[in-house]
Amino acid sequence: MTIAVTHTTLHAMRASHLEEYYQFLRFPSVSTDEAYAEKVTECAHWLVEKLKSIGLEAELHPTPGHPVVWARNKHQAGRKTVMIYGHYDVQPPDPLELWDSPPFDPVLKDGYVFARGATDNKGQILAHILGIQETLEKDGELPVNVHLVIEGEEEIGSGNLGNFLSQNRDALKCDIALVSDTGMIARGVPTMSYGLRGVTALEIKVTGAQMDLHSGIFGGAVANPITVLARMLATLHDANGHVAIEGFYDKVRPLEDWEREAWRKLPIDADAEMLKETRAPELVGEKGYSTVERIWGRPTAEINGIGGGYQGMGTKTVIASHAMAKLTFRLVPDQEGDDIIKLATRHFEKHLPPGVTMEITPGHSGPWYLTDPHSPFGEAAQRALRKAFEKDPALIREGGSIPIVSQFRSILGVETLLLGLALPDCRAHSPNENFPLENFDAGIRLNKAVLQEIAA
Ligand code: BES
Ligand code: ZN
Repeated sequence: MTIAVTHTTLHAMRASHLEEYYQFLRFPSVSTDEAYAEKVTECAHWLVEKLKSIGLEAELHPTPGHPVVWARNKHQAGRKTVMIYGHYDVQPPDPLELWDSPPFDPVLKDGYVFARGATDNKGQILAHILGIQETLEKDGELPVNVHLVIEGEEEIGSGNLGNFLSQNRDALKCDIALVSDTGMIARGVPTMSYGLRGVTALEIKVTGAQMDLHSGIFGGAVANPITVLARMLATLHDANGHVAIEGFYDKVRPLEDWEREAWRKLPIDADAEMLKETRAPELVGEKGYSTVERIWGRPTAEINGIGGGYQGMGTKTVIASHAMAKLTFRLVPDQEGDDIIKLATRHFEKHLPPGVTMEITPGHSGPWYLTDPHSPFGEAAQRALRKAFEKDPALIREGGSIPIVSQFRSILGVETLLLGLALPDCRAHSPNENFPLENFDAGIRLNKAVLQEIAA
């Protein structure tokens, strides 16, 4: 769906803002693939230069992985200190053939900028930077002390950012963290998220014979690892869509009536939106829960990838030596990633038939997050959203994860305000990712409003 942006928005947007947005988007800063490592670092350097050019102190901090960009204004005693966090890394653009235009060559169509990272997270973090730039140009100073921490590893679990926070804990002392990397429930509806799901990943490999075998000579006499893995993966859910791993729900905090009621009253038809956006023939999920409850408040087990055997053209009569699958679990309060990996491992061990061996490798993980939207900072954020969008904000939880947010609490001792600007059809992580200039502009206004409200 594309909606024309109003003339006011187009005229209000400075040409230089748009040009800088394009420059930022042209870096293929894909964190997961080593082939892009140099581009990731170039993107970090570009950010440092941009931040310096608007009058902030800015540095690049190398890590064992991709660098962290850290900037600050001149801090003044007695002022509130806000840490604005975002990420400059992006997801891989694949599959390339599904893009209408090249992913790292941004184009503007009907008011929407199309490029990998347009929404997640370059558009949103740049809106903060430009908001700060405009305030500094107008007032010569900001109403608060700020730290900007912009990392290059969010899309791969923020593995090195925790150390950065611990090592710089005193220097990063702040009152509140501010993140625009979540969604809005609909166009024009300001949204504050007070919760995120966590995530934990594993890879499973099932091996039978030590080499691929002729299926005529050996078929029927040895286990087929692909069949075995398919059967094992099929045990993950029961017929009602519940995860069938023993103990999986033991620590799940049930959704409370007030929250279910509040989500029912949100001004969206979530099912219709979801059907439209996914173009799936029907919505399916855990029985007994609505679509938003399934996404925001319930845990899941997902198979993200599966492989093994011959996948080339034509037929090959072969029994593969092994088969593998990549899984992630979305976690909700009070589940813990390590527990879930242990429970899943035990589950697969229980369902492992004779004739094969199994290897499980845990991957990255990030905890869930839940905060009080009615805390004094939460209320300040709501006032800012109202000011920037001229509408009452919706309060929601999110299904996605931002792994570092729980460490802002555990290491820095601060809560996080999640004021995201992604629309349901922004296609984050998908081909044709896009961000409306309308939201880019709103993000600039929001940055100004929220810093003012926090200072007040
Ligand atoms: N911006 C997203 C997180 C997000 C997505 C929040 C949708 C709310 C709604 C973030 O960049 C992201 O994709 N995070 C990953 C983290 C993972 C790789 C550890 C995610 O959720 O898959
Ligand atoms: Zn993302």
